[in-house]
Amino acid sequence: MKLSILFSTVALALAASPVSLGADTPVYKDQTAPLEARVDDALSRMTLREKIDIIHAQSKFCSPGVPRLGIPELWTTDGPHGIRAEVLWDEWDQAGWTNDSCVAFPALTCLAATWNPDMAALYGRSLAEEARYRGKDVVLGPGVNMYRTPLNGRNFEYMGEDPYLASVMVVPYVKALQNEGVAACVKHYALNNQEINRHTTNVIVDDRALYEIYLPAFKAAVVDGGAWSIMGSYNRYLDEHCCHNNRLLMQILKGEWGFDGAVISDWGGAHDTPQAIANGLDIEFGTWTDGLQDGRSKAYDNYFLADPYLAAIESGQVGTDELDDKARRVLRLLFRTSMASGYGHGSLCSDEHYAAARRIGADGIVLLANRDNTLPMNLSDGARVLVVGENAIKMMTVGGGSSSLKVQRELTPLDGLREALKGKATVDYARGYVGDITGEYNGVTSGQNLADSRTPAELIEEAVGKARGADYVVFVGGLNKSPGQDCEDADRSGLELPYAQDDVIRALAAVNPRLIIVNVSGNAVAMPWVDSVGAVVQAWFLGSECGNSLADVLTGAVNPSGKLPFTFPRRLSDVAAHAVGQYPGVKRADSPIHDERYDEGIFTGYRWHDSRNIEPLFAFGHGLSYTTFEYGQLTADNSEMNPGSTITLSMPVKNTGSRAGAEVVQLYIADNESSLPRPQKELKGFSKVYLQPGETATVTFTVDKTALSFYDPARGWVAEDGDFKALVGAASDDIRATLPFTYRNETAQNSNNNSSEPVSGALGCR
Ligand code: BGC
Repeated sequence: MKLSILFSTVALALAASPVSLGADTPVYKDQTAPLEARVDDALSRMTLREKIDIIHAQSKFCSPGVPRLGIPELWTTDGPHGIRAEVLWDEWDQAGWTNDSCVAFPALTCLAATWNPDMAALYGRSLAEEARYRGKDVVLGPGVNMYRTPLNGRNFEYMGEDPYLASVMVVPYVKALQNEGVAACVKHYALNNQEINRHTTNVIVDDRALYEIYLPAFKAAVVDGGAWSIMGSYNRYLDEHCCHNNRLLMQILKGEWGFDGAVISDWGGAHDTPQAIANGLDIEFGTWTDGLQDGRSKAYDNYFLADPYLAAIESGQVGTDELDDKARRVLRLLFRTSMASGYGHGSLCSDEHYAAARRIGADGIVLLANRDNTLPMNLSDGARVLVVGENAIKMMTVGGGSSSLKVQRELTPLDGLREALKGKATVDYARGYVGDITGEYNGVTSGQNLADSRTPAELIEEAVGKARGADYVVFVGGLNKSPGQDCEDADRSGLELPYAQDDVIRALAAVNPRLIIVNVSGNAVAMPWVDSVGAVVQAWFLGSECGNSLADVLTGAVNPSGKLPFTFPRRLSDVAAHAVGQYPGVKRADSPIHDERYDEGIFTGYRWHDSRNIEPLFAFGHGLSYTTFEYGQLTADNSEMNPGSTITLSMPVKNTGSRAGAEVVQLYIADNESSLPRPQKELKGFSKVYLQPGETATVTFTVDKTALSFYDPARGWVAEDGDFKALVGAASDDIRATLPFTYRNETAQNSNNNSSEPVSGALGCR
């Protein structure tokens, strides 16, 4: 007994501390040597060919290390919601492994909707453990492209419309992932806000919107999260592809932000050898070059950063400085991951991972509407629940593009409800509509047969018949992961629900007022029937534990506390990109390129709705609870601020209902007057507080100068003198208290007459 304890203690100590290999160990192999010394040493031993080899792929998802030096391959994997199944070396088809099924975590929109950084950390850690078990060094995620239009087929992979929310949520994900020795590859940098024409769109955006809206979450991931890699996006900006874009990569990422990690191309995102050399691309993946036509073995040699680069060096066209820099960055990535010691072995499909997925899912579900307390379900003996809709039975982890997963299991909403209501109610099902019955992605199949040959009228008739007299009708619909829905490589064609679901909902509403609509999507959808249903729940793509997370909320086992990470507009023309911006861009007469002007500038999402006084269907930050929260008096420790000081705001919040629950208290800042137009208010802080019935907690926010600043293209980040307001509330359209304060750029030590002063920092206040 004693011996075994001793043994395991020794084993633990060995696993946790780097091993010193003796005096003749090369520095690069010495785990105790500083990272840069190891990188320098490895680089000094590498041949030109070896340096070229490590900066491009050798298969669909890996690049070679340096076999001669014992430096292993670099293995990447999608991401961002689970670890993708193994594909063949050089094909997208399945490798056919039987031990590569994973846990699917809720999509990142759901994570953002938790407004809970602890959930982001739990997510990152759990995902990293799955990645390590599968031998992956880099997870291709998280995605933090901003929500510009509800038509973007990939919004479900991102964290919503607000740069502050996405910044706060991405940092713990990245840190927790990397804390386990797995690199994050933050994507898709940058301005990749739609799927339509994703390779040919040239985004035209002003610097203000670039710095205030589209870059902050990337900056937070890099500067605060310390991301080890980042993925260049497919689109163009300033007429250069973002995978080798001088401004984005050389000036901003590696210059202003001091990024020391590796820029990885999106798969097939590199297009030009001289630009890839000069403009900061470090590793090229997925390029479909002419080499592929010549046969597999030659394909990777023909990548832009492979033989063509070598030839340019050998002919003296370019020097080797850029190559050394790229190789250094790849080596850093390897030493931080596959060549690092002290990390755990990881685990796959563990009970903990399922529990994490279930918890995150339930934390992110948003209760949008709840007329007459329809929810939570209150069931008496012999109760009858009718579930309607294709999304109640359709597996959602298969499909959607590169984030598609091969799961060990996925509990559907119908099965989750059946399980939760066992012995309490009978649960019946009616299809209601037939949407998309396919369930396949790159050879992974859902194995479901969803074929149903009945006509829409017959399906509605059946559902309505069963709905009459049911205690509750739960309609589970929304979008799915098929092309044209929430899926990569195409956008949606409109805001409306597909497959005439509105007809089914209207027919059900006419016969049963206790109708609960569960919208499964990563995007806003139109809800023309919203006033005639009992409750509306936004359920996202919840992954493996979908049915459990959803049942937890519907039955009241979990009190909903998610808040919307983006605005639900009433109509597409209420969205700035569609009202005043361009979407999807205008094709140039003489080339395949589409120019797309972001004329709406910084006025996206709630910033636009506020500025035009447009009432949203559901506002950014909105989300109800089964309990009620009373906001008290907002107070501050000061009414004046300067660059060297902060203001601390306090808001008591009381749970005035009879259930325990959590509230996301949100802080917005309004600038009364400024030299450039500013949004009416912007999110600059939030805090999720858990309260027992009757309990009060005081939420505090510390506001510093960055929370007051905006980006002036002529001056950089500035905070201007003047009057501001702190607005604290439960949603962007539900402000409960306001407090004015003043900001002066003069400090006691430095009282010059500057009316504004550049600042740095991305996050404002926490
Ligand atoms: C996607 C990336 C993904 C990559 C590898 C690309 O098509 O845009 O997000 O990581 O494929 O699957």
